[in-house]
Amino acid sequence: MRYLYFLNKISFPMAQIDCLKLQHFRNLSQIEWTLGSGQNIIVGDNAAGKTAIIEALWFLASGRSFRANQPKQLIQQDHNQFTLYCEVAHQHRTHRLGLCRDAIQTIIHLDGQKNATQSDLSQCLPLQLLTPESHQLLTEGPKARRRFLDWGCFFHYAEFIGHWRQFQRALKQRNMALKQQRPLDEIALWDKNLIGAGLAVNAIRSDYLQKLEPILLDFAEYLMPRFNEQHNLTLSFYPGWSSHYQNFGDSLQQYLSKDRQLGFTQYGPHRMDIRIKVDQQDALMRLSRGQQKLLVCSLLLAQAQYLAEQSGESVIMLIDDLPAELDETHRFKLLNLLQEMHIQHLVTTTSLELIPATHKDSRHVFYLHNSQLRPST
Ligand SMILES: Nc1ncnc2c1ncn2[C@@H]1O[C@H](COP(=O)(O)OP(=O)(O)OP(=O)(O)O)[C@@H](O)[C@H]1O
Ligand SMILES: [Mg+2]
Repeated sequence: MRYLYFLNKISFPMAQIDCLKLQHFRNLSQIEWTLGSGQNIIVGDNAAGKTAIIEALWFLASGRSFRANQPKQLIQQDHNQFTLYCEVAHQHRTHRLGLCRDAIQTIIHLDGQKNATQSDLSQCLPLQLLTPESHQLLTEGPKARRRFLDWGCFFHYAEFIGHWRQFQRALKQRNMALKQQRPLDEIALWDKNLIGAGLAVNAIRSDYLQKLEPILLDFAEYLMPRFNEQHNLTLSFYPGWSSHYQNFGDSLQQYLSKDRQLGFTQYGPHRMDIRIKVDQQDALMRLSRGQQKLLVCSLLLAQAQYLAEQSGESVIMLIDDLPAELDETHRFKLLNLLQEMHIQHLVTTTSLELIPATHKDSRHVFYLHNSQLRPST
């Protein structure tokens, strides 16, 4: 297996969160947390705020929550804003990331500079997330799969973010022209940019997916032994428009009158999807819930390994409520793999007994109670 080869040969510096401070986030008034390298376990009762800590880090890295539609829901009741700060060692440097959010706006700081953007923060904090809802990557609509793929494209291809922004801008303008019933030649004005940037975005996505597929199969084989022998797992790239049309431009032409009726662009890279099939059938139909979760773990691990191979960098993995995710055997396998891959990981649980002790020397346990996070003594 490729990853075993990788584990034996490469030792790379770990991206690592050294400390996290937060204020007035959900039920947590104030937390100051110094993390260890390797495994960090947060133990707490229901409603202690474990998911809130994972959510805070995810908000810093992505500018959004994985469970609230509106950032103002994250502000502690009876307060006006929340603040987040973390120090992360990344690419042989330590970065200081800060974010303050009130009901209206977000203010971002990076290394003391005020003019930083969300994508600057994302670049410094390569997080991956596993929650009890992670199987939705397979079961829900394509949006989550686009995010998954775009995460990797963002880290691997420096030009990706520029093309992506250009595409989003052109799409917005074209949709506005469609909605306002502008004349055809005005709508066509946006097509050139839309097609150019859209094809560049999709070319990167498709290339990245191809690189990921063999690594994914290795991890799926490790987490679900003999899976590859018994089943044929395939990933294919759906560009966002029908294969009946030779290219994106043709598809835009064909759907122009319908787009004008609807007031938006129906097909294009904004509808891209990864089609995941097991034995030629939709993966959802063939896999148990547990297998779906293991497949999602394999997808994330494949991304992590490819990043390490290409850039010598590791991701940081957030795992909310690990016991709800996997049975004991698979909890052990996953944690073992994360330790072997030198990936710092943050795990939450209601009971420490549910977390298998894989590498005790790099295990750091913290108890969350009454909004206080204390290391175990
Ligand atoms: N804006 C807010 N202000 C104050 N409290 C909030 C806010 N939003 C959520 N809460 C509360 O924060 C608490 C922590 O929720 P959280 O989901 O993080 O707990 P948890 O430790 O992950 O629990 P579980 O083990 O059940 O998953 C809950 O009691 C919730 O009602
Ligand atoms: Mg929780």
